[in-house]
Amino acid sequence: MLQAKVFVTRRLPIELEPLRSLATVEVWPERQPPPYEILLEKVKEIDGLLCLLTDQIDRQLIDSGKLKVISQMAVGYDNIDITAATTRQIPVGNTPGVLTDATADFAWALLMAAARRVVEADRFTRAGLWQTWEPDLLLGPNVTGATLGIVGFGRIGQAIARRAKGFEMQILYTSRQRCSPELEQSLGVEFATLEHLLQKSDFVTLHTPSVDDTYHLISDRQFELMKRSAILINTARGNIVDPDSLYRALASCQIAAAIDVTEPEPIPSDSLLLTLDNLIIAPHIGSASRQTRSKMATMAIANLIAGLRGDRLANCVNPEVYN
Ligand code: DGY
Repeated sequence: MLQAKVFVTRRLPIELEPLRSLATVEVWPERQPPPYEILLEKVKEIDGLLCLLTDQIDRQLIDSGKLKVISQMAVGYDNIDITAATTRQIPVGNTPGVLTDATADFAWALLMAAARRVVEADRFTRAGLWQTWEPDLLLGPNVTGATLGIVGFGRIGQAIARRAKGFEMQILYTSRQRCSPELEQSLGVEFATLEHLLQKSDFVTLHTPSVDDTYHLISDRQFELMKRSAILINTARGNIVDPDSLYRALASCQIAAAIDVTEPEPIPSDSLLLTLDNLIIAPHIGSASRQTRSKMATMAIANLIAGLRGDRLANCVNPEVYN
């Protein structure tokens, strides 16, 4: 029986019994994340950390402890200094795969809601403004048959494309690596440069990780390339889009957008973005189906247990630690 200690930075939607039988488990009980200073203290006395994307796991924190494993309950891990963890031979786990469909579904929910102005329609109705059927009330573009541009073509980008086929869309994608001709054919997608994709697409949806190369990938110049009627969807990471450029593009009514992620998160209450009707903002809930969140938590616990036991994590973002 291990005498390990672990800290879980938020209550999880599953039972922690398998973990409790192996380790002393402390769960942060608040709705807000533990403050950085508390994490810094905790990390000195624990072997395993289960964290979320709201926890800043930087070099100072990693170097302050004697962690055997860091397990992130998310597929993205841009909140963790992976280089620092790798230097200390600490495996970092994540939860890929299980949230692909939920996130793709939600990106589609945002796309449909923005195109057909569902949120504005709800506000309009509740405000008592629905007086009659009007030929030009709350018009939006067609989704069926439109051109969809997918930026980033990993698991989630491809799941978006599979759904787009049902809407008979022309599908363009851009990514660092072009797919095989077989995959392109089976998904009915065409490779494009980012510039070409932005110029041609009626809908642009972002599915890249947050890395140095994708920081503010969509800024003034990219908005200028887009059709004036384009709709931008972001369910990836907030910092892929420059928020000032987004505001300028939306305020000039150049485009519409629906985003599940912002820079920073949560969006500041005085952000000018909150004043715009042609923007839908959700609070980072792309993966928030009950089944998906439960699978993510189960996977994060499995990674944590493997790390405590000294076994290889099933999903490890820095496998170099095993060399
Ligand atoms: C992730 O997993 O990275 C998502 O952003 C949260 O579900």
